[in-house]
Amino acid sequence: MVICKASDYKDLSRKAANIIAAQMILKPDCTLGLATGSSPVGTYEQLIERFKDGDLDFSRITSVNLDEYKGLAPDNDQSYRYFMNTNLFNHVNIDKAHTFVPDGLEPDAEKACREYDEIIENVGGIDLQLLGLGHNGHIGFNEPADSFSKGTNCVDLTESTIEANKRFFESEADVPRQAYTMGIRTIMLAKKILVVVSGKDKAEILKKVVCGPVTPEVPASVLQLHPDVTIVADSEACSLL
Ligand code: F6R
Repeated sequence: MVICKASDYKDLSRKAANIIAAQMILKPDCTLGLATGSSPVGTYEQLIERFKDGDLDFSRITSVNLDEYKGLAPDNDQSYRYFMNTNLFNHVNIDKAHTFVPDGLEPDAEKACREYDEIIENVGGIDLQLLGLGHNGHIGFNEPADSFSKGTNCVDLTESTIEANKRFFESEADVPRQAYTMGIRTIMLAKKILVVVSGKDKAEILKKVVCGPVTPEVPASVLQLHPDVTIVADSEACSLL
């Protein structure tokens, strides 16, 4: 596990974008696993800038996103598909037919999860997976549990996640209670993993993830067992390390 300390959010975003850019340059037809949330927004801005400068080409890139709220349509402005379109895909030359997000409108959870696993398998797995870190240690929407999840699964969001995400909705009641998420096993099968962590409020959980025991009660702690993980964190997030 490599920990790359950034001075602030801008520096973190630049460093994370450097790693993704290197991956794209070395393998122009790679599959990127992508995340939503506030942590990667600056990284996406950096990637867009580099595309506009002519330094990056997304035309042969495939992407698979970590998760999607169950019940939200792609054009709902709180859906993760909408987030990806507005924060990255609409601004670069990626072929949207090669961008995948779990189908939030599929009511049959088993079908939605099976189909998403098939998509990930058909694209040949993930070359580089970008992750944010939840306050309770979740990655994707894999919440603290008794065991690590395997493939894509339908989860009930915890109170702390609903609380953290309500800032994006009109009221807490509007936050969907369930989501489809890529499983921990699938994340662990990615060849490389890049985690972006920002802010003082993430310092305690980052310490547990890096220095604590590997336990499904802190889902991201499993990353200690992956052979190629880089955590890019700003100085506030690193303050307890
Ligand atoms: C988003 C995701 C989540 C977030 C996590 C951190 O696709 O899977 O695990 O990465 O909740 O969110 P932020 O970055 O908003 O603190």
